[in-house]
Amino acid sequence: MLLTVQSINVAYGHAVVLKDISLSVDIGEMVFVVGRNGAGKTTFLKTVAGFMKPEKGTIIYSGKQVGNTGPERMALDGVRYVFQDKRVFTNLTVRENIQLAAHPSGERLDAAIEKVVQIYPPIVNFLDSKAGGLSGGQRQLLLLGRALIGNPRLLLIDEPTEGLAAGIIKEVFKVLEQIKGSVSMIIVEQNLSVVCRLADRVYAMKEGRIPAVFSEQREIQDRSRMEQYL
Ligand SMILES: Nc1ncnc2c1ncn2[C@@H]1O[C@H](COP(=O)(O)OP(=O)(O)O)[C@@H](O)[C@H]1O
Ligand SMILES: [Mg+2]
Repeated sequence: MLLTVQSINVAYGHAVVLKDISLSVDIGEMVFVVGRNGAGKTTFLKTVAGFMKPEKGTIIYSGKQVGNTGPERMALDGVRYVFQDKRVFTNLTVRENIQLAAHPSGERLDAAIEKVVQIYPPIVNFLDSKAGGLSGGQRQLLLLGRALIGNPRLLLIDEPTEGLAAGIIKEVFKVLEQIKGSVSMIIVEQNLSVVCRLADRVYAMKEGRIPAVFSEQREIQDRSRMEQYL
């Protein structure tokens, strides 16, 4: 397994929001987490990325215990977190946004730009435009491309299609489909049509717990059981 999370609890102050969560991701797997707002999905991704420390349980990444490892170290070790809020540097150009990701990963700028263009070819027309002028979908595609810079091993993607127009949602699916298998992923997503098509495994999260895991393709294709968690 690339990642094994075992029985973790995570709290904000005294409020325990993740309770006894276990989840694993093997190399090349695409795993989804579904659940209602407030279930704890973002908190879970933040914890794996190193922004929050579990108060109980263990997280093993690439053979090492990482529960107390901070986000910079996790990023250097190949974990990329694509935030839910589609945060880009609005006053910088698209090229500069890519450059900022290329630098810490040690990847050359032209190779980094090529990677983003390969993921979303129309971005070539915007390289010298301010990223603040991009639509939500274009930002998301820039962020997904940027997350692939420097050979990541685990992508954590938080609600990639949330708030996007239908047309561009298709583009986001295409990108996820294109990179499936080449890098491990945990994706939080409410759009079950994507989940059913792409998932290797689905974890349902409810009130900070995981009451159901769908591992068989037969279970994953049948969205009726998953729907009760949305
Ligand atoms: N910074 C925070 N401080 C305190 N409570 C928080 C904070 N962020 C989230 N929470 C609470 O933790 C729970 C899980 O939130 P979150 O992980 O964002 O859920 P989801 O991503 O599934 O919508 C919610 O009850 C939320 O109100
Ligand atoms: Mg969230």
